[in-house]
Amino acid sequence: MRRLGAAALAGALLLALAGCSSEEPAAEPSTVTTTTAVAPSATTAPPDPSTLRGAAAGRGVRVGVALQSDRLDDPAVAELVATQFSSLTAENEMKWPSIETERDEMDFTGADRLVDAADAGGMEVRGHTLVWGQEVGNGMPEWLDGLSSAEVEDELGEWIDTSVGRYAGRVDRWDVVNEPIALSGGVVDDNVFSEALGPDWVAWALERAHSADPGAELWINEHSVEQQPEKAEALIALVEDLQAAGAPLDGVGLQTHAFSGQAPPPGTFAQLVERLRALGVAVAITEMDVPLVGGTTETTQADAYAQIVGECVAAGCEEITLWGLDDGHTWLDAFLGQERTDPLLFDRDLQPKPAFDAVHQALQR
Ligand code: G3I
Repeated sequence: MRRLGAAALAGALLLALAGCSSEEPAAEPSTVTTTTAVAPSATTAPPDPSTLRGAAAGRGVRVGVALQSDRLDDPAVAELVATQFSSLTAENEMKWPSIETERDEMDFTGADRLVDAADAGGMEVRGHTLVWGQEVGNGMPEWLDGLSSAEVEDELGEWIDTSVGRYAGRVDRWDVVNEPIALSGGVVDDNVFSEALGPDWVAWALERAHSADPGAELWINEHSVEQQPEKAEALIALVEDLQAAGAPLDGVGLQTHAFSGQAPPPGTFAQLVERLRALGVAVAITEMDVPLVGGTTETTQADAYAQIVGECVAAGCEEITLWGLDDGHTWLDAFLGQERTDPLLFDRDLQPKPAFDAVHQALQR
């Protein structure tokens, strides 16, 4: 993939947001004055090691952020994203119910905007997500309820074909199945997909996504694995089963929402990553946040980030993605019922916190 310097990246992204190609001058230069930083020589500039993106590149790691596309309306956000991150995840806008709110009516507007922005900024894209296992949150369209098994199979196949096909060659990797492990352990076996497709529904989804874009990496993505040993065992067993079945699985995402505000016991994360990597799959942190809860402080938060990211990268993780950019925009406030959980690397004014320094240093080690 093309590598750009930080200033050029910010400029290219702003150009794209202004509806221009990075190869063409803006029609109204006065409205995008910062974009003049896109100089031909900048395309070969080495990554700036003072940024997360630059530090991560030095380790051969991606550093990503989950975002809602309307955040890019703010030029300061667009610039920060393009400067600091090398991978973009749609927080919600690539989910099935977001795109196909009404059956047979798909609207890719928000998803397109994010993929365009990633292209313009030289960022990779993690497509999130095609199928949800657990029926929590709003990961699946409500209109699936009441359909026959044959109809569910048809609809799921069409959804995967359309969305993966649309972004073939542009979305680098897909979280094909989000949260396949049941709260009680084992693969979810009581959702609409297992009922329609049978116990091999995860493999079915992976095969279908592979047909739609044979070049995309295909991942499964799970939460709380580092916090619950029984979940780690279930996830590892699932990977082994998928491999035995010949399913196209490239990677395992560890969401890493640190709900307690603390890291797991030292070594836990590294051991988990090592066990997964020993199976031959790539591993990434895909949704990290560390809320301030129960007396934790910005200092302990930074320590938790340092420990988890440090262990993950040392054990061979290839990506660290944060579930949000700044403390003013986080799902955790509502989820934890707290006025503010401040779980991210940048504060409400987009200023870096101690957690930023911690992650930056952990990426450099
Ligand atoms: O956009 C509508 C808005 O029009 C409406 O007024 C409002 C009223 O509730 O809802 C808005 O949609 C919300 C959406 O976030 C956008 O803010 C949904 O209700 C809400 O359920 C949705 O929550 C998202 C959740 O996934 C469910 O999809 C969170 O933002 C998002 O952070 C969260 O992300 C998940 C990952 O995909 C998978 N891992 C766990 C993580 C946290 O649940």
